[in-house]
Amino acid sequence: MPTRLFPTTRSTAATAPGALPLLGHAPAFVHRPLDFVAGLAAHGDLVRIRLGPLDAYVACHPELVRRLLADHRTYDKGGLVLDEAREVLGDGLATCPAATHRRQRRMLQTAFHPDRLPDHAAMMAEEIAGTTAPWRHGDTVDVPAAMHRLATAVTARCLVAAPERAGSLPVHASMAAVTRGVARRGMMPLPGADRLPTPGNRRFRRARQDLREVTRRLIAHYRADASDHRDLLSVLLGARDEDGQGLSDAEIHDHVVTFLLAGTETTAATLSWAWALLAANPAVRDRLHTELDTVLDGRPARHEDLPSLPLTARIVSETLRLYPPVWILSRTVTTDTELGGHHLPAGATVLFSPYLLHRRADLFPCPDRFDPDRWLTTAHPAAGTYIPFGLGARRCIGDTFGTTEAALAIATIAARWTVTPTPGRPVRPTRGSSLAPRPFTATLARRSR
Ligand code: HEM
Repeated sequence: MPTRLFPTTRSTAATAPGALPLLGHAPAFVHRPLDFVAGLAAHGDLVRIRLGPLDAYVACHPELVRRLLADHRTYDKGGLVLDEAREVLGDGLATCPAATHRRQRRMLQTAFHPDRLPDHAAMMAEEIAGTTAPWRHGDTVDVPAAMHRLATAVTARCLVAAPERAGSLPVHASMAAVTRGVARRGMMPLPGADRLPTPGNRRFRRARQDLREVTRRLIAHYRADASDHRDLLSVLLGARDEDGQGLSDAEIHDHVVTFLLAGTETTAATLSWAWALLAANPAVRDRLHTELDTVLDGRPARHEDLPSLPLTARIVSETLRLYPPVWILSRTVTTDTELGGHHLPAGATVLFSPYLLHRRADLFPCPDRFDPDRWLTTAHPAAGTYIPFGLGARRCIGDTFGTTEAALAIATIAARWTVTPTPGRPVRPTRGSSLAPRPFTATLARRSR
């Protein structure tokens, strides 16, 4: 990690250059968000930006990000990106304030206890097999759409284990519309723009309503039949706090929608990027095939295979470094404070970006290169440098779930298929608060070993 002596004086952070009158940095933030945010590190450790009428600070140094995330009461959930997500996720675990977080997190922790992972992994393996069963040699697939279907099937199944019920969840279309809405609105720094009667805003509101209705019906169904289905919804219904109180229907609704959105978009994006990166790096792909042929011998991957698939694991880590799906996050300052010697007033928005940190050349040499083997020597990067799952009390609760799902899907699919993006059309990121690739097609070739 770069060593830095932060000033002890309480100065104001420098403003990034290039602000336009009235709009400030909003055009750059909206039109080329990744380059703009990654470029801020050159202007200081804590940099001020202006998005139209809003001011925000961006923490660019890993030590500042570590301090920020270690103190989740001073830097609470809120600010630009979060406020939009709250419209959909309500007070679910990812968006609830620090004051109620501890109770909720303790109640939900058992859902992601390592003991449950083998059950989840078995369901993941079935859904991976089901999603890929119709694939034929020579088929062309829309990769992000296929990975979204796969990740939705997995999350829905782990939430509601009985396949006939999970299959009957009409969540896919409404989830995709809701997520697109959240991503677009989170990046729209003009106040009120999200309330205009545009087709996109109308689709978003309809989809949000559909999701509410589906979860309401499911909760009623589970409450009527009190058995443990060994799924996430059963854990939510059985969870009790220290006073023996359970979660209300409204709380369960927010958690279900949070798991669906947080668990699906992220893993789908990771898998989509992984196929693009492997195709662009055939030497890594060949080594992956060798690992899979040796360990799996043509069969689908199971949870117990994962310790024998270290290159697969490094490919997941490296994909998450280059393209962290949650690439930018915000916090709101609850009380006057200082960060890195700079004064931050209560109410200020602080942004931090896993993408920015992961692309710092002083933290990751040749940061734009896809090099899974860097994880042979960097197995435990310093706190705050590699944060695809965040850090501290608000770290992702589904981190192992997500990496297990990604590793099982990559191993099972790559063991049988070569996924080659259609030539001549570079895979590019979408513009939004989630870092996913734009739709791209690929040809599937059945591998002969
Ligand atoms: C590759 C997959 C995933 C990535 C990259 C990812 C990323 C993240 C990040 C960066 C955070 C921290 C947000 C913050 O600090 O504001 C987070 C939190 C969260 N994630 Fe994930 N996530 C993934 C998979 C999942 C899955 C599979 C689930 C659930 C099924 C999930 C559920 C959550 C929840 C509930 C939180 C809020 C935790 C809290 O505040 O206590 N995530 N995730």
